[in-house]
Amino acid sequence: MAKKTVVSPDTSQLNKDIIKKLPNSATIVIFGASGDLTERKLLPSLFRLDSDGLLPEKCVIIGVARTDMDNETFRKKIMESVGAYSRHYKDRCGNWSVFEKKLLYHKMDYDNLSDYKTLNKLLADIHKKQGMNSNCLFYLSTPPMLYPGIVSKLGEAGMAQQSDEHWRRIIIEKPFGRDLASAVDLNNHIHQVFNESQVYRIDHYLGKETVQNLFVFRFGNAIFEPLWNRNYIDHVQITVSEEVSLGSRAGYYDTAGVLRDMFQNHLLQLLTLTAIEPPAEFNATSLRDEKVKVLKAVRPIKPEEVAKQTVRAQYRTYRDEKGVARGTETATFAILKLFIDNWRWRNVPFYLRSGKALNSKVTEISIQFRHVPHLMFPLPPDELLPPNKLVLRLQPNEGMRLGFETKMPGAGMKTRTVSMDFLYEQDFGENILPDAYERLLVDALQGDASLFTRSDEIELAWKITDPILRGWEGEHAPPLAFYELGTCGPSKADEFIQADGRKWNPCM
Ligand SMILES: NC(=O)c1ccc[n+]([C@@H]2O[C@H](COP(=O)([O-])OP(=O)(O)OC[C@H]3O[C@@H](n4cnc5c(N)ncnc54)[C@H](OP(=O)(O)O)[C@@H]3O)[C@@H](O)[C@H]2O)c1
Repeated sequence: MAKKTVVSPDTSQLNKDIIKKLPNSATIVIFGASGDLTERKLLPSLFRLDSDGLLPEKCVIIGVARTDMDNETFRKKIMESVGAYSRHYKDRCGNWSVFEKKLLYHKMDYDNLSDYKTLNKLLADIHKKQGMNSNCLFYLSTPPMLYPGIVSKLGEAGMAQQSDEHWRRIIIEKPFGRDLASAVDLNNHIHQVFNESQVYRIDHYLGKETVQNLFVFRFGNAIFEPLWNRNYIDHVQITVSEEVSLGSRAGYYDTAGVLRDMFQNHLLQLLTLTAIEPPAEFNATSLRDEKVKVLKAVRPIKPEEVAKQTVRAQYRTYRDEKGVARGTETATFAILKLFIDNWRWRNVPFYLRSGKALNSKVTEISIQFRHVPHLMFPLPPDELLPPNKLVLRLQPNEGMRLGFETKMPGAGMKTRTVSMDFLYEQDFGENILPDAYERLLVDALQGDASLFTRSDEIELAWKITDPILRGWEGEHAPPLAFYELGTCGPSKADEFIQADGRKWNPCM
């Protein structure tokens, strides 16, 4: 067979399209700039964008935190982390001297209003000196308990105010609340200072190229959509497995657990995009309206149903981890069986599965079609032809695989499952997929909120998660199962799906 030709996208044309929509000038203010996210993701992404000419022509990045540092120390620290975490640094290190001039550091105390006034004055001075307008993108990358205080103080210092000439926007990192009540509180709090249109709640999964490709796959092809419903699909499996165990996140994780950490946001977002109806237009309002409809249609699991509809488990050595409470029941692995009560999906189970310390790092959506209605080929009694399966691989080995039956060459009518594969790397080249944060930062600078989560979406996702969390703490809780590190999870996971006459796609 002829070897595939790699056709890399014409980035210069794509970049021209991005640049056209960027503002001429903007300042990005990162709160929590001495932290892990800034080092590993935000500044490496901003560096890549800058070296590709994808930041506003006049752009200043101000890192804000309590740590005592001057600009030079901050720049040095960031250069080391960009070198360590950006896969593009080697090719673009010549751009560092240009980028570092855009970086400033500002030490401040988040509780002190006068510190915000000083920051505001610094912004005004920079804007005046550099002939910039006052566009500002605030990025909250601090521990979440600080979000309400910072938002209030930004309001009190008059820093959230926009005009016809300039905008003010705020990106808020996850976790967004720890239950419905706290998420509603946080939304109300934010709305006292910023309009919803100024707020960009980030779920970096939505910035992944492969997640966005779900739209193109479903709505840019005529052949899949007619099958994308209860008439042809038996069930859907959404898997997000992590190899890493707790690391240094014990303080947060032990009070959150896998349901808050992964399901309320990433897995429910993936479910929403798998199940969404085609929006009339690809814009923030239409898209998010359709996502909200899916979340509203998810049948809630009542606390008394959790033993039947969920699995919760913990990896065997979790309780020995530093910073974890003694005898903790925090789940590090879970499965939810959800139903979407609408015309398209009625009675099609969506199995959502995620856990830590597993045998692989994989994110995938597996669409399992129904068995053929009538079998004309002779098969041994009790044997069925495997149903077709479409696996959308979001990471790693990004791509998709469609499994189907073919006749085995030779006499008789024996069949075997074969597959058609698409791999991004094969068709578009290596290292072609941008980091999710790059995409999302550009979108926020352009004022495109399509890939950010709206307040009602967040609250609906908590409405689905909250009763499960309550059920897990109550008398109907499923027993906590245990699993060894580096395995596929607890044996209970297999029993759970086998009880429905199904099995997991063997990815983990
Ligand atoms: N790291 C990730 O991969 C990741 C992924 C998704 C979401 N997030 C979210 O992004 C946010 C930032 O994450 P991160 O990992 O960068 O956090 P982090 O490293 O724990 O904290 C960020 C900075 O906040 C400041 N800080 C910490 N505790 C504080 C306190 N009690 N009071 C005031 N300031 C405090 C520290 O700076 P100073 O001491 O210098 O002020 C620290 O450098 C969090 O909300 C996290 O949930 C992170």
